[in-house]
This record gives sequence, C-alpha cells and structure tokens, in this order.
Amino acid sequence: MSAETLDHAIRRAADALRSARRVAVLTGAGVSAESGVPTFRASDGLWEGHRIEDVASPDGFRRDPKLVWHFYNGRRANVASVQPNPGHSALAALESRFASNFTLVTQNVDGLHQAAGNRNVLEVHGSLRRTRCTECGAVRDRGLEALAEMPTCALCAGLLRPDIVWFGEMLPARIWEEAVAAVEACDVFLVVGTSAVVQPAAGLIHLARHRADWIGEGEGATVVEVNLTPTVASHAAHIGLYGPSGQTLPRVVDLLRND
Ligand code: OAD
Repeated sequence: MSAETLDHAIRRAADALRSARRVAVLTGAGVSAESGVPTFRASDGLWEGHRIEDVASPDGFRRDPKLVWHFYNGRRANVASVQPNPGHSALAALESRFASNFTLVTQNVDGLHQAAGNRNVLEVHGSLRRTRCTECGAVRDRGLEALAEMPTCALCAGLLRPDIVWFGEMLPARIWEEAVAAVEACDVFLVVGTSAVVQPAAGLIHLARHRADWIGEGEGATVVEVNLTPTVASHAAHIGLYGPSGQTLPRVVDLLRND
C-alpha cells in the first residue's frame, strides 16, 4: 500500500472516530511487538521454538508442567523488561476521549494496555500476571515477580498454572459476555495487531461488521484493521491501516487531537 493510500486511510479512520459515540477495540500480539514482545505466528506456528500444543494446552501441562512453566516464566521475564509503545499510548488516549464509551478487548496477556493507562480492558485470554491453583482453584495476582520453577499454592500446596486460556479451554464467561456486548454497541471497531485466526475472539470482527444481519436491528460498525499486512479478516474491514501500529495509531489520534 502506498504512503499516500495510508495517509488517506488514516484520515478516514480519524473521520470515523470523530463521529463515533461508542468505540470498541480488539488487540492481539502485534500491538506489543514494537515493545519487544514476540508475536505467536511469526515463524512456522512455533512459539519461541515450542510446539503450541506442548506449552499452551491442558494436555501439554499434564504431560510436562516444568516445560510449560519454563516457557511462561520466560514470557513473564520478557514482559517485566518491556514498556508500552506509542500504539498502546494512542489507545489509552482514545479511552480518555471516549471515557465510558470505550472498551478494549485484548487477547494479550502482557498487561501493557493497563500499563499505558487503559482502564476498561477485557482480557479474554487471561493474564501472565495471575496464577491459578490446579487443586483448589485459587487465583492470585503475582505481578511479574520471579516464580519458582514449578510454583505451588500457598493455601493447599497444589501445583499452580498460569491463569491463561489454553487451546481447548473456555474463555472466562463474564468477560466474554461484556466483550460481545461492547462490540454489539460500538460504532467503530478497531482491530489491531491480530492475525484473526483464533476463535472465538476473531469472531468479534464479523459480529461488529455484520451484527445487523445477526440481531436484525441497527447497523454494523465501521471496522478499521490496523496491522502490518492484510489478514484473513481484512474482507470484513472498511478501512485498512497497513503499517506498524506504533506509528499508524498515533497519527490517527493526532488528527483527532487537532480537531
Ligand atoms: P499472532 O502472532 O497470530 O498475530 C500477530 C499479528 O500482528 C499478525 O497479523 C502480524 O502481522 C501483526 N503485527 C506484527 N507486528 C505488528 C505491528 N508492529 N503493528 C501491527 N501489527 C503487527 O497473534 P494473535 O493474533 O494475538 O492465545 O494470536 C491470537 C492468540 O493466539 C493469542 O492470544 C494466543 C495465541 O494462541 C493464547 O495464548 C490463548
């Protein structure tokens, strides 16, 4: 896409936001890439050299909890060493503008949106900062402190696991319901830095675009995709901003600020 076309798309995205009452956002790993957090599908479906089913499934954890904790302790250490980037800050600025009419749904577990200042964040895939006991179910916020190689529960001594949604597991029901409600109510839906291949999160894009057909009233939202490249969901987007989100999102927000 030429620079001129990107300029035009940025203006159209700012125009859509200018007339919006409610905004919802779906983010994925790409929004954190410029902070130095690796994305998932950059190389052959491997996650930092591991097969997804080994480190991100209940079966993988049952087979080799030590390997899984080694992987997640590495991710926790990585996130402890990075900062939000201008893309995160732009989304925080958008929340300031739209206040309670802004909802950020994230597939990310790194907490960088909250660190940038977003408050209305729905973490549909859980958080790297929390542990959950496999015995008693107790959930604890551990921040990004270093954990034992195989951490155990302070209450019952059961083995802890990351409080993250793995393949084959359900999303947290209440958070997911809030995400669907926000997407059904928004006028503009930003889809930032996700390959849009993991369900049900990716289904929010189609819900935003086609909800008029699904619920038989109102109109679909204006869908803006922000990514390095088009994705399998691009056909559902009205506007595509193809470039690093840490560069394109601040330009959209600057146009809004200059109103
Ligand atoms: P992916 O790794 O699948 O996709 C990252 C997307 O970000 C790709 O489409 C890239 O083109 C894009 N991207 C990379 N750098 C970017 C940048 N600087 N600016 C904008 N876009 C950029 O990550 P997700 O879509 O988040 O689930 O993956 C979804 C889920 O798959 C994750 O939440 C994770 C994984 O299974 C769980 O851990 C439960």
